[in-house]
Amino acid sequence: MNIDLTGKTALVTGASRGIGEAIARGLAQSGAHVLCAARSAERVNELAAQLGNATGVALDIAAPDARERVAALVKERAVDILVNNAGITEDDLFIRMKPEAWTNVIRTNLDSAFAVTQEVVKKMIRARWGRVINISSVVGLMGNPGQVNYASSKAAIIGFTKALALEIGSRNVTVNAIAPGYIQTAMTDALGDDAREKLAERIALKRLGTVEDVANAVVFLASEQAGYITGTVVNVSGGLYT
Ligand SMILES: NC(=O)c1ccc[n+]([C@@H]2O[C@H](COP(=O)([O-])OP(=O)(O)OC[C@H]3O[C@@H](n4cnc5c(N)ncnc54)[C@H](OP(=O)(O)O)[C@@H]3O)[C@@H](O)[C@H]2O)c1
Repeated sequence: MNIDLTGKTALVTGASRGIGEAIARGLAQSGAHVLCAARSAERVNELAAQLGNATGVALDIAAPDARERVAALVKERAVDILVNNAGITEDDLFIRMKPEAWTNVIRTNLDSAFAVTQEVVKKMIRARWGRVINISSVVGLMGNPGQVNYASSKAAIIGFTKALALEIGSRNVTVNAIAPGYIQTAMTDALGDDAREKLAERIALKRLGTVEDVANAVVFLASEQAGYITGTVVNVSGGLYT
């Protein structure tokens, strides 16, 4: 299957590192022009320069002016593929969790998807073509101690995905979520070999996922070939959760 995204523009939030960076690379390699967005302006500009068919965008999706910033962005260049990837954790046991830890996580992982997506899909609807891909987590499906705020945000993004898919499917805009399991990033690299092996034991495929495992699923969902898939959650967890 040859995936060709030439002529499409993609906006990837949280593209400065980790999974988002791999998604930006994957989409650019498939021919899309990628708007690489994150708070670290320097890093996204570097990445965009490396990719060639890309633009770095300094954007804090949790800031009060995020909606206006995105509106200005899409006014300049319509976005065909939106990947809501930026996300944070602020873990704590529930009884100790500070209200700010709850609010920060919900604001970044959920509220921002509302604002960003609303600004972007208006033009997709008019164009009668669009792809919205939301990065959730298996934690939103199975829960995880110490992550009540994060699991809530990731479960909510699945409801968001399903409801929006039903609303805008008739306009040829698909909306899907991806639920990654344990993915090898700077965070998991910091764990010792023992801890990583214990994690891998719980996974059917006996290894942590790579950022490319997630990016491949995103590129497929963004493609023409995935045009009949909407409202789904693609589980990229190596069988950690089935
Ligand atoms: N890693 C995993 O094992 C795993 C598993 C399941 C799901 N996920 C999900 O996958 C997504 C990416 O995770 P990751 O592991 O790649 O995380 P990461 O390495 O911590 O990267 C997070 C990205 O989000 C950006 N970001 C955070 N807050 C932002 C804000 N307010 N505005 C704009 N950008 C912001 C960061 O860039 P700046 O700091 O430059 O803004 C960074 O590019 C997240 O939604 C996460 O919940 C990850």
